[in-house]
Amino acid sequence: MSMKILVLPGDGIGPEIMAEAVKVLELANDKFDLGAELSYDDLGGAAYDRYGSPLADETLERARQADAILLGAVGGPKWDAIDPALRPERGLLKIRSQLELFGNLRPAILYPQLAEASTLKPEVVSGLDILIVRELTGGIYFGQPRERKVLESGERFAFDTLPYSESEVRRIAKVGFDSARVRGKKLCSVDKANVLASSQLWREVVEEVGKDYPDVELSHMYVDNAAMQLVRAPKQFDVVVTDNLFGDILSDQASMLTGSIGMLPSASLDANNKGMYEPCHGSAPDIAGKGIANPLATILSVSMMLRYSFNQVEAADAIEQAVSLVLDQKLRTGDIMSEGCQLVGTAQMGDAVAAALKNL
Ligand code: NAI
Ligand code: MG
Repeated sequence: MSMKILVLPGDGIGPEIMAEAVKVLELANDKFDLGAELSYDDLGGAAYDRYGSPLADETLERARQADAILLGAVGGPKWDAIDPALRPERGLLKIRSQLELFGNLRPAILYPQLAEASTLKPEVVSGLDILIVRELTGGIYFGQPRERKVLESGERFAFDTLPYSESEVRRIAKVGFDSARVRGKKLCSVDKANVLASSQLWREVVEEVGKDYPDVELSHMYVDNAAMQLVRAPKQFDVVVTDNLFGDILSDQASMLTGSIGMLPSASLDANNKGMYEPCHGSAPDIAGKGIANPLATILSVSMMLRYSFNQVEAADAIEQAVSLVLDQKLRTGDIMSEGCQLVGTAQMGDAVAAALKNL
């Protein structure tokens, strides 16, 4: 299987955390004989500085040719004053929509070693391991028409549109069911079908897709209840599938059950499981250049890449195990630091994961 990986370190802490993720990927490449070939390019502010665009055409073409993309983070105050159409974040939205990366997987896993880092009671979050599957290229964020105007009365007025087609729902529902099938075999579809027509279609299509997955237990929940249940009893969930807007909110909410955003990886997949893998956090300008950022979210994104795009389950599991071993050694970056642990920098953390992986 071809394993051409395009690495886009991005801006801010992006290059720092990516150096550690690549360190771990190169080691996994040798250890498991993966045959991965890495190439590099710029995205976001770094691309604006180099190409005059946050996503150059040639970079998009390289991304199309690659089997998977590994991304750091983009953005920062340096580019605040430039034309809004050329801002770093635009490059990220464009690469997601151009590559049709509609399936956004955001796992929220609480490592037992970090139980004290969560703001919720230990009994509520201990052992937490859920996956939010968010539709990423449709719904209200992309819906047309949308408009802002001033009415004849002089009142300001604006509206957005929340469209979903059967095929859009069908393909994200399949991602949800496929994910549930290889996990706890429970899928909760979250919508607002008591109010929204788009949600009624959503629920109908999810039910239909479910007929092909008799081994997965399907349930439905209204989004307001889901928000409540996520903090009341999050362990009732295994996989949650939901639309773009609801998924944006619920996945951020779920991520905070686990303590630090520096721990959370993500995958954005197209219909053939080609994907872009990135930490959930941004470019953290406040700590960029200091060598103190947590690289684990990006290292765990490498694990997701090996699992989802390349079906290299053994290598993916090994990287997760190495991360867990390093947490057992009580090594902590600042964002997950607690009493009795040893504070380490970005590179030390990456070295420790690589060493643990090597010795497995
Ligand atoms: P952020 O996620 O960059 O930072 C939020 C807070 O978390 C900061 O205090 C930061 O120091 C901390 N943090 C983030 N990642 C960390 C890590 N790995 N280790 C330790 N601490 C970490 O969000 P913020 O500050 O809202 O945005 C900064 C820039 O990043 C903006 O330009 C924003 O547009 C961009 N951004 C980019 C994203 C992406 O590339 N996917 C996602 C979110 C924001
Ligand atoms: Mg968000």
